[in-house]
Amino acid sequence: MKQIAVFVSGGGTNLQALIDAQNRGEISGGRLALIVASNPNAYALKRAEQNGIPSLVVSRKGCASLEEFGKKLLAVLEDARIDLVVLAGYLSILPEMVTSRYANRIINIHPALIPSFCGDGYYGLHVHEAALARGVKLTGATVHFVNEITDGGPIIAQRAVPVQEGDTPETLQRRVMEEAEWKLLPEAVSLFCEGRLRVSDGKVTILPKP
Ligand code: GRF
Repeated sequence: MKQIAVFVSGGGTNLQALIDAQNRGEISGGRLALIVASNPNAYALKRAEQNGIPSLVVSRKGCASLEEFGKKLLAVLEDARIDLVVLAGYLSILPEMVTSRYANRIINIHPALIPSFCGDGYYGLHVHEAALARGVKLTGATVHFVNEITDGGPIIAQRAVPVQEGDTPETLQRRVMEEAEWKLLPEAVSLFCEGRLRVSDGKVTILPKP
């Protein structure tokens, strides 16, 4: 059974999607074992409490350096014998010592079709503001492995979502969450825990069910 840690910063709707999928028995071979928040006010911590999942806060601000932050995160992950880290609305940048130790074992959900609208500064509503400003007809979400480049790791899966006439950043964000993020993330986590994600030459292959 793979032990999963979910890193959060905000409302935790992606965490809730993982909790709901687990409760429906849709995360084969994995268990939500720990929630790590970047700040104590994250509503996602309430969701962890309501579902009996242990949680703690490791905040970058509380650390004297990036190195101390990285060491704290690694200690937490090793203590809990975590196999997979999932970034679910997580806003801190992970130190390289963490992304290298957990190479191809950290999954992130990004609310756009990478390589569009991604990288530094593209998070939360900013992503949807940029998509509307560009006038794209299709946007969506991407679930990918995390490496040292922001939103630059191997892509696991993507799902397209149409932009509708009159969309605001808020209405578009909601549709991308409902129709893409909250589906893609649990699916990718389950595939990982089933051992069905293979990475070679920066590309991800989804292996058939054995
Ligand atoms: C959302 O914009 C989501 O697309 C991105 O982080 C934001 C908050 O997510 N991944 P959550 O509700 O905290 O999961």
